[in-house]
Amino acid sequence: MQKNENNDMIVTPWEVEGVIDYAKLIKEFGMQSISDILHDIPEPNWLMRRGIVFGHRDYQRIVNAMKNKTPWAVMSGFMPSGLPHFGHKMTMDEIIWHQQMGGKAFVGIADMESFVVRGFSWEKAKEIGMEYVKTIIALGLKEDAIIYFQSASTIVKDLAFELAAEVNFSELKAIYGFMPETNLAKMFVTSIQAADILHPQLKAFGGPKPVVVPVGADQDPHIRLTRDLASRASIFSFERLKEGVRIRSRKGIEYLQRLSGELDFDKIIYEEHIDVFGDPEEIEENTRKIELELGGKALIPPSSTYHRFISGLTGGKMSSSKPESFISLMDSPEDASSKIIKAVTGGRVTAEEQRELGGEPEKCAVFEFYNFHLVKEDKELREIESECKEGRILCGQCKKRAAEMISNFLKEHQEKMKEAESKLDLYNIVV
Ligand code: TRP
Ligand code: SF4
Repeated sequence: MQKNENNDMIVTPWEVEGVIDYAKLIKEFGMQSISDILHDIPEPNWLMRRGIVFGHRDYQRIVNAMKNKTPWAVMSGFMPSGLPHFGHKMTMDEIIWHQQMGGKAFVGIADMESFVVRGFSWEKAKEIGMEYVKTIIALGLKEDAIIYFQSASTIVKDLAFELAAEVNFSELKAIYGFMPETNLAKMFVTSIQAADILHPQLKAFGGPKPVVVPVGADQDPHIRLTRDLASRASIFSFERLKEGVRIRSRKGIEYLQRLSGELDFDKIIYEEHIDVFGDPEEIEENTRKIELELGGKALIPPSSTYHRFISGLTGGKMSSSKPESFISLMDSPEDASSKIIKAVTGGRVTAEEQRELGGEPEKCAVFEFYNFHLVKEDKELREIESECKEGRILCGQCKKRAAEMISNFLKEHQEKMKEAESKLDLYNIVV
């Protein structure tokens, strides 16, 4: 790993370092800010309202599907690494919220990824993966979700193979920094992840539909590649024009000719593409229908949302090798409380100073816990924040309250985990 003495921001799927500037991340990665679209989302959840989900790609597509009640899906994946913690919970809550908003939910357990990235045996990946499955069920995932382990899904593996035919080493090197000595499985896992994301659109699952992928910002390179692969693996691809859509075909001009024969819009036919005029949504939808008849997949580029990284309780990053830096959902309520009591805060050196100047919630790992996980009511959160800022509460007391909330949550959650275990056979789990 290269030294990062200036604490520069590094965000890749394999490495997150430095102080994260989310506005800069949006700009550098070319994401959209969630605040641009918030007013249009029916009942946005607390993560969105607070900018914890801070960015997105193409989420308008999902909002439209929610409003028009047309089919759409939510999909995300979890690599078995350690016991489930609040970072997993955040993504799981996002999947569950989207499911409640009407999306078909897909939950992938990335055991192939953990085999190659973590060096886990299949058995170990399965054991930990099943804990994740129980966790998301305990958190409220409804029974019509599709849950699968990558290694057990022939559909995902076959699609991954097809997608891999569209990617070469130079591209992987540019996106992920792979080297000639990078092993083939590690490269292939990027196609597996693309297949995770795209397979809800295959015929077996009802065909093309908008799919939203809630992830941490470090996963954006996968999203960008997958969005591109959606068009590479389809017959037709689209580019929006002012008054319509430019359509190209990667599979030869015969397809364009057949398309232009069937598309009932004004159009200009060029040698390599056709320009079609009218409502772009309608044009694209009609084209996809025709593509399906022609035997193509007509995949829609997936949408995504990006959430902020969770800080470690001990200052710096959360690290699976430092159990005191995070709270596992399997921690005993007592252990969790004592981790919170020991956490770094945004408090002042003395009580006197704190009463005078107030604390700094924006620097406080305990406040982050309230904000991300414990307090869903905005009003209640604002009250905690001003109590802190105005010096009306000291950290000791504030931590005690947080510790109590976490213990209560964990007690209840661990009960639900047991129930989830007995309910597993009500779910469709491909394992
Ligand atoms: N790579 C993701 C991680 O490191 C896990 C993952 C696998 C995933 N497949 C996915 C995430 C599909 C989103 C969508 O945690
Ligand atoms: Fe953090 Fe609470 Fe202390 Fe404020 S009072 S700095 S929120 S622990």
